[in-house]
Amino acid sequence: MNMEKIIDENKQGEALVLNTNNKNTRKLFIESYGCAMNFSDSEIVASILAKEGFNTTQNLEEADLVLVNTCSIRDKAEQTIRKRLQKYNAVKKINPRMKVGVLGCMAERLKEKFLEEEKIVDLVVGPDAYKDLPNLIKEVEDGRDAVNVILSIDETYGDISPVRLGGNGVTAFVSITRGCDNMCTFCVVPFTRGRERSRDPQSILAEVNDLAEKGYKEITLLGQNVDSFLWYGGGLKKGFKKASDIQKATAMDFAQLLDLVATEHPKMRIRFSTSNPQDMSLEVLHTMAKHKNICDYIHLPVQSGSTRILKEMNRQHTREEYIELIDNIRKILPNCSISQDIITGFPTETEEDHQDTMSLMEYVKYDYGYMFAYSERPGTLAAKKLEDDIPEEIKKRRLAEIVALQREHCAFRTEEFLGKIFEVLIEKESKKSDQHWAGRTSQNTVAVFPKENYKVGDFVMVKVNDCTSATLIGEGVGFSDNN
Ligand code: SAH
Ligand code: F3S
Repeated sequence: MNMEKIIDENKQGEALVLNTNNKNTRKLFIESYGCAMNFSDSEIVASILAKEGFNTTQNLEEADLVLVNTCSIRDKAEQTIRKRLQKYNAVKKINPRMKVGVLGCMAERLKEKFLEEEKIVDLVVGPDAYKDLPNLIKEVEDGRDAVNVILSIDETYGDISPVRLGGNGVTAFVSITRGCDNMCTFCVVPFTRGRERSRDPQSILAEVNDLAEKGYKEITLLGQNVDSFLWYGGGLKKGFKKASDIQKATAMDFAQLLDLVATEHPKMRIRFSTSNPQDMSLEVLHTMAKHKNICDYIHLPVQSGSTRILKEMNRQHTREEYIELIDNIRKILPNCSISQDIITGFPTETEEDHQDTMSLMEYVKYDYGYMFAYSERPGTLAAKKLEDDIPEEIKKRRLAEIVALQREHCAFRTEEFLGKIFEVLIEKESKKSDQHWAGRTSQNTVAVFPKENYKVGDFVMVKVNDCTSATLIGEGVGFSDNN
């Protein structure tokens, strides 16, 4: 198992390429850090700027405009971006007409302060203000710094058709909710991404239709908290007690949205992320069981196995309730894989709390996970209320212990695939061999197998002969009936 995958989901920033529009003359270099939502948002930004005459480039040196979509989730994520800004600074010395803009969570968190702290930055734009980019860029071109960090209660970018960047033409993200109302005490997201809002199901369907027409085979419905998706026909918002009967009748929750998309597109593989245990309903599990094309995979962050710590984190479930949900998943979806997010060293965490996390992991035996040492984020409830009192070396030691345990569980889960046949959707060539394809099973496990006559985008039945702790190695035994 790749350490980076276990410890930190922050991918290296990826520079993205856009289908070139010949009329466009300006060059945009855009890269994204952090969660899938940032990568998805960059596709919205590229779409907005394509209309302003920008084609994307992978060559930083030739860019007229450099945009970095940033992550604030941990201090380390912010440090990575500050280092990246130094690199842009060096390039700007060679190419002085280049403008630099900061998007995403760091932009929202630091606002105007960014302009003082990082002299290189010309433009600061929060996650809900991307439609204002054309105006802001004009300001910058006129020699003024530009900032828009206004958060919205209804912006979903539902009317913007994202430009698919740097992808494989097979899998795509479709964002369905923005923001988060959960206020987990450690988390900066509610402050940087604002109130939760759901996107119009019709615009979601239109985007999926478009992807299907373009030959995409798998979508991931995205949100900070997808299971709390709730659409009230554009009228009343979630939590409004006096919804009329009509509005109630036309409301759509996440299980219904899943059912709708899966029914309309029976050949499209459907994934979703992220689920908060407190919002995941049995209806969602039953909808997953009903549709073959909804993948057998749930990312179900737990953060801690101690009910006391969960309470301090303002997670709205206990250890026992989480276990009950796991038991229901195993019962309703026996082949479902489950992954986790866990934080070690949250304020006041004792050795006993840590052991509770380890024993919960033993119970679930997660397929894989993303584990982090607690990083205090300014402005969060934990930062205000609780002292960051667990010494760094203890946080790190506990992290090492859960990473080691997760590695054992990864191997255990991967070995369960041995000798069996699974459907794999081919996404790309294997990184290690140009003779092999790489794709994923429904359970989200990576599988590699000889290319033979198969091609990218095919659903292939693969017999698993061998494995590493994270990858299945097999051979194609024919097309699946999903092609
Ligand atoms: N709902 C979100 C979760 C956001 S953050 C989603 O869509 O993924 C992803 C993970 O980062 C969290 O589940 C948590 O485990 C971790 N995380 C968030 N804030 C953190 C902090 N202050 N310190 C360490 N890890 C943190
Ligand atoms: Fe953060 Fe909790 Fe929302 S982890 S994104 S506040 S569900």
